[in-house]
Amino acid sequence: MKTIEFIGSFPEYRICPKDNKPEFAFIGRSNVGKSSLINMLTERKSLARVSKTPGKTQHLNFYLIDKEWYLVDLPGYGYAQTSKKLRRAFEIMIHQYLERRLTLQCTFVLIDIRIPPQAIDIDFINWLGANGIPFSIVFTKADKNNEKTNLENIEIFKAEMLKTWEALPAFFITSSETRQGKDELTDYIQGIKQQFIDYHS
Ligand code: GTP
Ligand code: MG
Repeated sequence: MKTIEFIGSFPEYRICPKDNKPEFAFIGRSNVGKSSLINMLTERKSLARVSKTPGKTQHLNFYLIDKEWYLVDLPGYGYAQTSKKLRRAFEIMIHQYLERRLTLQCTFVLIDIRIPPQAIDIDFINWLGANGIPFSIVFTKADKNNEKTNLENIEIFKAEMLKTWEALPAFFITSSETRQGKDELTDYIQGIKQQFIDYHS
């Protein structure tokens, strides 16, 4: 990623950029390591704010990468500290964006590799599936466990998904500390992005 421009923070999908570029969104529960992952991928120290207080991202944040594609930082879901009304408003904003944004190529759902499958993550994944929204799973904080534990936890997560899914999506194991998974994730995005560009040119 050579150039990265912050384009804007949009409260609604309707006012997001309309220049028909391929787009990739990042989402996950608060504190899962979303900002850290975005900084790791873009090799910027503080593009997205890494925070001790969760729930900072409240809009659809657009970054234009290499003048070719958008990286979209979405608010974390299920943040308990906000009011019910605000949570609902976030949910509507996110759901509408994911359902209606035609240039969205893939949504990366971030999952903390250390913890057992959470209902809120599984529900969100199932909602994506029910609505035909393409997604991949990105496990975060891989450096905090040994590899054996990580692989075991991933198997547990896959088993949970296989209760409702016939086929599993792409999985990535990442760490913002060690940069594990950076090349795999970048290659994956570049591949889909290039297909989009070739198809539309
Ligand atoms: P919100 O925007 O507040 O919802 O959180 P977020 O999902 O953007 O998480 P953020 O990147 O701010 O990281 C939350 C905490 O986890 C911070 O203290 C990070 O330093 C830590 N963290 C994130 N990724 C990693 C990782 O890969 N390894 C380790 N060891 N810590 C991480
Ligand atoms: Mg964040």
